[in-house]
Amino acid sequence: MKISIFGTGYVGLISGLCFADFGLDVICVDVDKVKITKLSKGICPIYEMGADILLERNVKNNKIYFTTDGAQAIKDSEVIFIAVGTPPTLDGEVDLTAVFQVAELVGKYINGYKVVVDKSTVPVGTGQKVKEIIKNEMEKRGVKYEFDVVSNPEFLREGRAVYDFTHPDRIVLGVESKKAEEIMKKIYKPLYLKETPFVITNIETAEMIKYASNAFLATKIAFINEIANLCEKVGANVKQVAYAMGKDSRIGSKFLHAGPGYGGSCFPKDTMALKKIGEKYGCELSIVSATIKANERQKLLMVEKIKKEFTTLRSKKIAILGISFKPETDDIRESPAITIIENLLKLGANVKAYDPKALDNAKRFFSHMIGNGLTFCNNALEAIKDSDALVIVTEWYEFRNMDLYEVKNLLKGNLFFDLRNIYSKDEVERFGLKYIGVGT
Ligand code: UDX
Repeated sequence: MKISIFGTGYVGLISGLCFADFGLDVICVDVDKVKITKLSKGICPIYEMGADILLERNVKNNKIYFTTDGAQAIKDSEVIFIAVGTPPTLDGEVDLTAVFQVAELVGKYINGYKVVVDKSTVPVGTGQKVKEIIKNEMEKRGVKYEFDVVSNPEFLREGRAVYDFTHPDRIVLGVESKKAEEIMKKIYKPLYLKETPFVITNIETAEMIKYASNAFLATKIAFINEIANLCEKVGANVKQVAYAMGKDSRIGSKFLHAGPGYGGSCFPKDTMALKKIGEKYGCELSIVSATIKANERQKLLMVEKIKKEFTTLRSKKIAILGISFKPETDDIRESPAITIIENLLKLGANVKAYDPKALDNAKRFFSHMIGNGLTFCNNALEAIKDSDALVIVTEWYEFRNMDLYEVKNLLKGNLFFDLRNIYSKDEVERFGLKYIGVGT
């Protein structure tokens, strides 16, 4: 079966590579010519574990093809996935321009039965709009081909996207016809055989499942962060609290790690979009609103935590370890590290930052600040050397097992902020350092 995927971002590219591995013939379409040229040569534009191997293999085997020619891709494929970007607008809603452009193109070039699958995270009701746009374009052409729209949300985590795609907890399919359902099941056949649960719903329910799942996970994190803040006041240890809570199978242990607040391209954007959808329908989502507020505050509380240890931060050197919003990605979107660095600079501190993969993105983002109190370092030790404090913001493996004797000798001060709770107070303080975690 030939399928096309519009958008070669995280979701589109990883889906395309994995589908090619499933044995399908995949056409990946993007408007970005540079990206398409690179991908055609087997160069992966993102850092994502395993993606480069899948790319090399499938380009070599001619199972995947990259093009900017969307019209031809539509004509040549039976199933068309929409996996283009849906960036937030200034007021927190979702910009659906790219999704609707693909729908328009489908209407313009449809030449037989097609299944049009929405993989981008889109507000409830978008599937129906996509349907209308395709119909309108066909009417303009004076043609009438049968087609189905399907909502098939993606639950990939960055850094684990290939694994998540091939080992999903469930596949959600919002469908309106048995024919489309069967085609989608055929596409996901390798997973069907692995007994992955398939949840078949209407389009609106599938669209809602994605938002509700992400908002719930974000709420879990915001909740444990609030408990962590209270733990600090009352002398409790949030790590043990979360561990014991998680042992209750009704609660579960995942997404209960206290830290500097969640970041990334999904949780902040999706919680905000869900709140806006609620407002549009006159339905107040007070818990989602509280989650958004608590997460913003959590990032700022990390700055307060650092500030509290100094009479002034002016000219103090602070080593920041980890800039990406989580390990195993070079993505810094909405990363707590951004809020922390920006605020430390505002308070007059000199920031020396290091990240194993996100330095290029960070240098671009902070280009105006480089030299104005901000230095990027090539390794953790360079950042730590002569600093008054070190702050672990992202729990990369290489920060989990540092030689604390060396750290103590390189640091000018003795403050060790562990915003991911990856060390214990005892093991750090043994070296004469002062340990400050989150809720520990
Ligand atoms: C998330 C969802 O997990 C995924 O299903 C969805 O499709 C896209 O959004 P992602 O943003 O890649 O994936 O990262 P994830 O691993 O979920 O982490 C999100 C943020 O939450 C990170 O900043 C992470 O550090 C933070 N987090 C996660 C915590 O602070 N504590 C936790 O216990 C778990």
